[in-house]
Amino acid sequence: MDLPLFARLRLPPELGDVHQGDCLELLGRMESGSVHLAFADPPFNIGYDYDTYDDTRSADDYLAWSERWMGEIARVLRPDGTFWLAIGDEYAAELKVMATRTLGLTCRSWVVWYYTFGVNCKYKFSRSHAHLFQFVKDPSTFTFNLDAIRVPSARELVYADKRANSKGRLPDDTWILRPQDLPEGFGPEENTWYFPRVCGTFKERSGWHGCQMPEQLLGRIIRACSNPGDTVLDPFAGSGTTLAVAKKLGREFLGFELSEAYAARVRERLAVIELGQPLDGAPEPLKSVPATQAGRRLKTPEAESAKPKKPGRKPRSAPR
Ligand SMILES: C[S@@+](CC[C@H](N)C(=O)[O-])C[C@H]1O[C@@H](n2cnc3c(N)ncnc32)[C@H](O)[C@@H]1O
Repeated sequence: MDLPLFARLRLPPELGDVHQGDCLELLGRMESGSVHLAFADPPFNIGYDYDTYDDTRSADDYLAWSERWMGEIARVLRPDGTFWLAIGDEYAAELKVMATRTLGLTCRSWVVWYYTFGVNCKYKFSRSHAHLFQFVKDPSTFTFNLDAIRVPSARELVYADKRANSKGRLPDDTWILRPQDLPEGFGPEENTWYFPRVCGTFKERSGWHGCQMPEQLLGRIIRACSNPGDTVLDPFAGSGTTLAVAKKLGREFLGFELSEAYAARVRERLAVIELGQPLDGAPEPLKSVPATQAGRRLKTPEAESAKPKKPGRKPRSAPR
């Protein structure tokens, strides 16, 4: 395949596109201090079956490679920039220490993303979470748009308490079993975030990339940690979720993807996206999760007023 001109001349990769190639090489062409927000969901080195990349490196090799690409991310970040890393249990601890101790970033949040529809295990607990680290270059200057990511509080959602702040609360972390059975256990004030994985039957699912992240999850990160017009980078574009969401939210964006086939599909995905289009998926999954027969139902005002009235039953205090 003929390389595009910018690649032959080793020009910086252009904004508004996904670039096929090795992120290390492409990052190397970027100017230092040019990115407001980087989101990376690298291969987890767990033997996942990608079409090009071999996800079975030795631990030492994986860690050395991670240090190189994360070092490049730290370099291309602006002084007030933010880097979010999605990673599995296997390397979460090591990559966090690498980012902070070796690369000098500051960890602002260690978010646990709790998801349903994970892979069922037989001889251990089925995994239903991934780690999301929010690193900043300068702990005193970074973007965090609290008002852009508020969620309804438990006071409002569960107790219909009129004193609840109608603007909602900042999401934070807690442990959850099944959200539909334990609504109080998944408070929006806690830092475990519930977004269903994009499973096979979902309308949102593109169907050609097994690691597609939900748009709502990226929406929260991009809204919180960047402003319209800022530059958002994803060095492991995959199905292109970060780029799609950045485009919908009016950010400049660029992504890198090793696989030619994936990159071509991402381009198709981006081509039909327009600024301002709604993100796929439920913005507040708890409100849209159906109760089970044995579980407890969220008492929303809408659900209450929709309940059928029992025939023949009089109100306790009949109007005179
Ligand atoms: C976990 S997936 C990313 C999924 C993505 N977050 C999404 O929502 O679809 C990781 C991707 O990184 C790509 N990849 C692996 N090594 C790469 C490299 N050196 N440079 C660029 N992309 C790479 C793989 O092909 C794979 O598509």
